[in-house]
Amino acid sequence: MDERMDTVEVFNGVRLPGFMHTPESLRTACSFQFQDTDVLLVTFPKSGTTWVQQVLSLIFCEGHLWPILHLPNWSRAPWMEQVSFSHLLSQLEPTRPRLLTTHLHATALAPALMRSKARVVYVARNPKDVLVSFYHFHRVANFLPDPSSFEEFLDEFLKGTGFFGSWFDHVKGWLGLQRDLNMLLITYEELYQEPRSTIRKLSAFLQQPLGPAEEELVLEHCSFSFMSQSSVVNYSLVSKQIMDQSRGKFLRKGVVGDWREHFTPEQNEKFNAVYQTKMKDSGLHFPWTRG
Ligand code: A3P
Repeated sequence: MDERMDTVEVFNGVRLPGFMHTPESLRTACSFQFQDTDVLLVTFPKSGTTWVQQVLSLIFCEGHLWPILHLPNWSRAPWMEQVSFSHLLSQLEPTRPRLLTTHLHATALAPALMRSKARVVYVARNPKDVLVSFYHFHRVANFLPDPSSFEEFLDEFLKGTGFFGSWFDHVKGWLGLQRDLNMLLITYEELYQEPRSTIRKLSAFLQQPLGPAEEELVLEHCSFSFMSQSSVVNYSLVSKQIMDQSRGKFLRKGVVGDWREHFTPEQNEKFNAVYQTKMKDSGLHFPWTRG
């Protein structure tokens, strides 16, 4: 295995896989000169990043499916903080708005973003489903440590000491900037439950109207069944040394509420108590807190 695979890069107190993050790649992200036409997708890992990368590239492809069928998601909407960013950025088509992706926290990127009118799409997902998805992903991704137990993984998630830091800080940090940035918030849950209206909301925000045929193309090519079979979005192009999908698929289940299959009633209570404490003054109300 690559000796960098299990190295850790600590950035602003947050642990990141050293395999794709370096001090230099992080500096490059934080000092990036955004253009007003840029579109930045921001997510905590496992919130539906790949799905929305697919939707955004479909919205901008104007019916031309070649990039959707042939280019991997990470080259259509590269992660700003990763070592490959500068190279991938130079390969983006100059005639279209640049689609960029980040998992970084707001404290790191917001200063650079505020100097532009770049559009920001923030995708949030029920943190219980994020946790479950991340737990499984830790077993697949060789650049993340194998979780010892679900209970310990849950505790680390609630404390915010796991890889990529605290879900709570990520969401509150970014969504606290809704008035300062040109930002649209969508949830994984609404894209799942109402894909058509969510795609319309995105295309309106991006000022990229879709005709009826284009809308159908977007819907068809961002479905779980299509994406599971597509090598450019299901990560099968990535070597087994990096992601071992014999241990679990990247596009694993793609549903809302899978946490119910994993949490014990006690774990659910513990999670809810921490959620209440951390989110109570945030003013943020999500579909998963209702009912
Ligand atoms: P699960 O592990 O719950 O299945 P990210 O891209 O941020 O790492 O998120 C990965 C999660 O998004 C996985 O969740 C994956 O299955 C889900 N996902 C990806 N594409 C999807 C789609 N088209 N429809 C529903 N879920 C999707």
